[in-house]
Amino acid sequence: MNIREAIRERHSVRQYKAEPISQEHREKLADLISEVNSESGLHIQIIYDEPACLDSVLARFSKFRNAENYIAIVGDKSLSDLHERAGYFGEKIVIAAQMMGLNTCWIGGSFSRRKCEAAIGEGEKLVCIIAIGYGLNEGFKHRSKPFAKLCNIPEEEMPVWFKAGMIAAMMAPTALNMQEFFVELQGEEALITTEGGSMAHIDLGIVKYNFEAASGHKCI
Ligand SMILES: Cc1cc2nc3c(=O)[nH]c(=O)nc-3n(C[C@H](O)[C@H](O)[C@H](O)COP(=O)(O)O)c2cc1C
Repeated sequence: MNIREAIRERHSVRQYKAEPISQEHREKLADLISEVNSESGLHIQIIYDEPACLDSVLARFSKFRNAENYIAIVGDKSLSDLHERAGYFGEKIVIAAQMMGLNTCWIGGSFSRRKCEAAIGEGEKLVCIIAIGYGLNEGFKHRSKPFAKLCNIPEEEMPVWFKAGMIAAMMAPTALNMQEFFVELQGEEALITTEGGSMAHIDLGIVKYNFEAASGHKCI
């Protein structure tokens, strides 16, 4: 599975098999997370076999089942782009996990922050978590806003790379599927912005990662 396929096949999965993540996958995830932490300066951690964080009333209301593993996205509170950075590098892990045959779900609200087992240092913040495991299903394709609401050029005028980036951006997970982002073509680059709050800034990082991975062009 290549990156574009992984972006297309990824959907939020909230019900998991009661099957621990294999040793082989744990080793790959440890290498991946340590690489992403060095690149991003974040303090991302993975927690296995701990059901409490996703066993709250809120989590059950959101239909989480057997969600016993999660990735905690933790970073320095003083970073001005902490939320966007969390989104960008978290999505890098999500897409790599999809390529390994694992399923995920970004979670900003429906989990217990108190029961999260991540180590959160002085001056750090737990931005959100990502559930991870072997899905009971592959999730469902979300509805997307049309191109015209998400970018400034008509589909027929898009360069090939830009269209590939847009399609991947439209497939990106966003909180409540709000898709509060806007993409503008500026020369050979794409400018992606949002006017939303902190959750929309996590989404912005996620969307930028998808756009760059599928188009091969850096976003500004
Ligand atoms: C930043 C962020 C926060 C999210 N928080 C939650 C959450 O608290 N509970 C939940 O069930 N889903 C949550 N989601 C998942 C979204 O509802 C989901 O990504 C969106 O509906 C699109 O569906 P898809 O991921 O299947 O493409 C979150 C997604 C993102 C990106």
